[in-house]
Amino acid sequence: MHDTLLLFGATGDLAQRYLFPSLLHLLRDRLLPATFRVVAIGRSEHDDAGFRDWLRGRIGGDEDRDAGALDDLLARIRYFSIDLNDADAMATTLSPFADRPSVNYLSTPPDLFAPACRGLKAAGLLEGESRLVLEKPIGRDLASAREINATLKAALDESRIFRIDHYLGKAPVQNLLALRFGNTIMEPIWQNRWIESVDILVAETGGVDGREGYYANYGALRDMVQNHMLQLLALIAMEPPSALDADSIRDEKRKVLHALRPMTPADAARNSVRGRYGSGVVDGKVAKGFVHDSDVETFVALRTYIDNWRWAGVPFRLVTGKRMPARATEVVVTFKPVSHWVFERPSRQRARSNRLRMRLQPQETIELGLMGSLAAPEWGATELQPMSLDLSMSPLPARRIAYERLMVDALKGDQTLFVRDDEVEMAWRWIDSVSDAWRQAGMPVLDYPAGSWGPAEAADFLPPTLSGNGHGNPAS
Ligand code: BG6
Repeated sequence: MHDTLLLFGATGDLAQRYLFPSLLHLLRDRLLPATFRVVAIGRSEHDDAGFRDWLRGRIGGDEDRDAGALDDLLARIRYFSIDLNDADAMATTLSPFADRPSVNYLSTPPDLFAPACRGLKAAGLLEGESRLVLEKPIGRDLASAREINATLKAALDESRIFRIDHYLGKAPVQNLLALRFGNTIMEPIWQNRWIESVDILVAETGGVDGREGYYANYGALRDMVQNHMLQLLALIAMEPPSALDADSIRDEKRKVLHALRPMTPADAARNSVRGRYGSGVVDGKVAKGFVHDSDVETFVALRTYIDNWRWAGVPFRLVTGKRMPARATEVVVTFKPVSHWVFERPSRQRARSNRLRMRLQPQETIELGLMGSLAAPEWGATELQPMSLDLSMSPLPARRIAYERLMVDALKGDQTLFVRDDEVEMAWRWIDSVSDAWRQAGMPVLDYPAGSWGPAEAADFLPPTLSGNGHGNPAS
């Protein structure tokens, strides 16, 4: 395991909210090497002591069990303010840390990836076993992603490049694989013969606040669908890998992304809805609308198909939005109706399809919706009722911040939960088809009030668990 982490973007929001707290927890739990050290690089002017004070006020440390770890973490941090466009300054300041292999984590905007690589190379920090970790976004479309990938590959080999998608570090997301490939009963039914549709919902109550500049250039399609949602889709739809190593899994994910049917302008109106939140009420509080000159969406609903043997004809509906009434990330697999219905009640039309509902956030639950008879005196055995089989782990093991797992894997050199160059490019290829189709079809961005489930036009795209058919609301 490498013991040197260079963290670029150390005063940024992500570092404060997730990266340093993750390091704190890992140190507390003794999951990092004894010699672990952090070289923090940011734009603000601080000396080591000044940065440590600044950081102390911003991360954890209020819980008793973290208190000792916080002092330990701070003592391991050196801070430097460097302009990443100045390769000479990077070389002079950072070369002393090239004495052993390092992990260089770029939590910076993508326009700094190329200059940072030049500076790191000049400092000798990309040699030998050293690695590079990159935060999203990897580009804004296929062309810019290819350019970034080419720049990275000119500096170091793909086997040392770690592209983060923090959804892959979430334990419940990894549980999707466990559920699919660790259970015999899933194997035969996981295909178009038995599955009617798949829904993937990522709803957030938060808005764009504070990130207007970035967001206005990306929108929900590029910010959420290109990465997190397509990664979820790929894990749900991929063929069984022959092993759990990085390339076996990534090969299979890439094939799914490759088989995604591109959107055409003729399909755009039928298979997608774009929305942007106006003012409204979320969690009982008044929320302002997102106002911007750009033509950017904060909500997107898409229906797509995977054109391969396993999934032919099965719609995959992807919905994500900001300022929704509840935070909910869930995958719902709806199975086909029973082939021959013999029960008097309910009628065949009213019988509820079997449904596997995997809720990943905020609670982690897995439910299998079945039909059964209560067989009590007041219910005849021929009268069926929806029943729910709760497959959740109880008690749920304590879950870590997704970045904790990813930090450890990057330090160890395990790429399984990181995104390979060709996956990123395949995902952009499909996203480009959607944005081109929108442009050519002149797809409008429809208003929805903050605190609603998006524009009314998106109702048919929402998971059946949301449409008031008795399975309840994701918030419940
Ligand atoms: C980020 C997006 O990648 O993921 C944000 O840029 C979004 O807009 C966030 O809010 C959601 O992540 P999580 O882990 O809170 O579901």
